[in-house]
Amino acid sequence: MKNTPIPYEILDLRHFSSKELSPVLDAESAFWLKHLHWDYRSSARLLNQYLDARSLPGYVASADGKAIGYSYFVYEESKAVLGNVFAKVQGLDAENGHEAHQIEAKLLSHVFETLFASPGMERIEAQLLVHSSGVHTHRFEEAGFKIYPRLLMARSLQGPRVVPIVKLPANLELRAWRDEDLHPAGRLIAEAYRGHLDSVINNQYRSVHGSLRFLHNIVRYPGCGVFTPNVSQVIVERHSRELVAMLLCSRISAESGHITQICVHPEYRKRGLAHLLLTVAASGFVLQGATELSLTVTAGNENAVQLYRGDGYEVMHQFDAAVWEKNHYA
Ligand SMILES: CC(C)(COP(=O)(O)OP(=O)(O)OC[C@H]1O[C@@H](n2cnc3c(N)ncnc32)[C@H](O)[C@@H]1OP(=O)(O)O)[C@@H](O)C(=O)NCCC(=O)NCCS
Repeated sequence: MKNTPIPYEILDLRHFSSKELSPVLDAESAFWLKHLHWDYRSSARLLNQYLDARSLPGYVASADGKAIGYSYFVYEESKAVLGNVFAKVQGLDAENGHEAHQIEAKLLSHVFETLFASPGMERIEAQLLVHSSGVHTHRFEEAGFKIYPRLLMARSLQGPRVVPIVKLPANLELRAWRDEDLHPAGRLIAEAYRGHLDSVINNQYRSVHGSLRFLHNIVRYPGCGVFTPNVSQVIVERHSRELVAMLLCSRISAESGHITQICVHPEYRKRGLAHLLLTVAASGFVLQGATELSLTVTAGNENAVQLYRGDGYEVMHQFDAAVWEKNHYA
């Protein structure tokens, strides 16, 4: 028997407190843990602060006065980042719930309408990790976004102990991340991603200033897991003291570690530095009691995907990155 769709209305997110949104956020947290092995609660806590400050732009789907879905976005000068869209209908979840997806579609159309009408809006980026590729792809495409498939890849840390074999040339030094690495790391990211597909998806990678903003979010805020400085590593050129490679890691659940950034300066590639950093990450998380290590990668970044497969990573989920640029796809 077909269910009758439940009636709901779309309201401004700033009318809702974190408490009023908690049934949806709890359902979403359960979904993240089950399907992505990711404890979303630390991200949800951060979100709650913004909700209670009533400062986050977005929409809520409300049925009978109760929140059943939400979406939010943030403005960064002439750009907006669509942070999330998620709906929960009793008895269904967003994975197979057609009705939940319809509600999400409605939320998305409100977000698009608002952003397209925002004065000076030049660019919109979205990476909806929670939704598999295909679920909302056509809605983004119809709105003029370009889609870039991305992969969540993971490897097991169980089985034989991973012991890193550190064989570095004499001019290079491997050491743990320090706070003062932030600025050199910003320079390295901008250099490593020059002309790279990932800087098409995330324009922060295109400048040192933008890269610092990205790093700040990774290191200071729990949006991408809780930063793990003692597993994160840099490789430094001893004479110039510049970073030539870096590995940033976070803890995304009691079981899982996550690599939030890995890159090598173009002049130091194909010497095994990334492979070394991957091994160091695996061994660092084993010591911390994790049993799985994951990362995300753009499917079109074939060299990196190949490198990860060689290190035992397998695809556990495919999702979309979406980019809209004013006048770009006319
Ligand atoms: C992807 C990236 C991190 C790889 O770094 P890297 O240090 O060149 O990687 P490695 O040298 O460890 O391995 C790369 C390849 O070089 C090969 N290689 C390793 N040592 C080598 C050597 N001495 N001579 C020649 N080739 C070598 C490896 O076998 C590997 O090939 P494979 O993937 O076919 O197995 C680097 O290209 C980069 O920073 N790219 C831009 C940022 C990026 O895409 N980051 C990943 C985002 S998810």
